[in-house]
Amino acid sequence: MYWKIDDKENIDTQIEQAATLLRQQEVVAFPTETVYGLGADATNSAAVEKIFLAKGRPSDNPLIVHVSSPHEVSKYVQSIPEPAKKLIAAFMPGPLTVILESNGVIAENVTAGLETVGVRIPDHPVARLLLEKAAIPLAAPSANRSGKPSPTNAVHVHHDLNGKIAGILDGGQTGVGLESTVVDCTGDIPMILRPGGVTREQLEAVVGKVMVDPALVQSKDKPKSPGMKYNHYEPDVPLWLIKGNANFFQKKINQLTEQGKKVGVMASGELAEQLKAPITHPCGSRQNLSEVAIQLYDTLRSFKQTEVDVILCEFFEEIGVGQAIMNRLQKAASRTIVDK
Ligand code: TXA
Ligand code: MG
Repeated sequence: MYWKIDDKENIDTQIEQAATLLRQQEVVAFPTETVYGLGADATNSAAVEKIFLAKGRPSDNPLIVHVSSPHEVSKYVQSIPEPAKKLIAAFMPGPLTVILESNGVIAENVTAGLETVGVRIPDHPVARLLLEKAAIPLAAPSANRSGKPSPTNAVHVHHDLNGKIAGILDGGQTGVGLESTVVDCTGDIPMILRPGGVTREQLEAVVGKVMVDPALVQSKDKPKSPGMKYNHYEPDVPLWLIKGNANFFQKKINQLTEQGKKVGVMASGELAEQLKAPITHPCGSRQNLSEVAIQLYDTLRSFKQTEVDVILCEFFEEIGVGQAIMNRLQKAASRTIVDK
């Protein structure tokens, strides 16, 4: 089923149909404010198994559970420590996932056998209505084939998963463009396992000190979030991050072109207009990294193998949401950074 949510009259029927499929243990893709999710009943392991199959996702990578209210969060965890309470009050609904001790109600394949569970309340009208109507917690990873850039519109979902899932709710373009921030709240001090839509600065303004998983900084450390060890967000052609000014960037374009390579450039409007390359896809403004976040995955997906051999991408400043942008780009580039 493909439901295009564009008509207020139909929305109740469309969501009711999607909710019915979910209650029948099928998987349905739906929009959230971050990226599209691929949902299934989080209390039913057979339903959840279908998510792993459709995505081709490794089974040791746990899924985030989506619920509709803070009260719902408390149904699936042993307790909510004080810092987590503050984070929930401040950022939910919104692009934040908290990791808490599971009470065992959520199916074991959702948590990949861990004692903990990641929970979030999405801030998107379609996701909220769907959770309300289905009246079940939804396990939902991003609705892309494993390893590919996350989907920020229904065309991306359709491209990756058509024929493999029971339905797609098309709610248009997502808002934030990057996934939720994952914060482990099981220790004394909250720890960011994956940077995302809520920045470290915003978290610290609410709970004081927040740590960052050392593996996010040092590639030799083992990440505490199982999913962070896999290749992710990879476009169809190799991506290189270019650290340097416009002259340096242009030199790299010229060198590769001379070697017979078709070069694609992904850069802010400010940098793009200073460069000459066969194909350039600008992705927002350096002055407004939220714009870059919104366009990031769509731009990564827009380079086709038939058109370019390599994508050269700007190295963005790692402040605010820039931290999440560079986390995703470094993974998309398998850490290929060209700086001399
Ligand atoms: O914005 C989002 O979070 C999107 C939308 C659909 O909600 N979802 C999403 O899910 O990005 P996914 O599966 O693509 O990424 C989930 C991340 C993975 O890195 C996973 O390892 C981590 O969250 N995670 C989930 N449960 C965990 C747990 N119990 N402990 C540590 N990490 C966990
Ligand atoms: Mg994902």
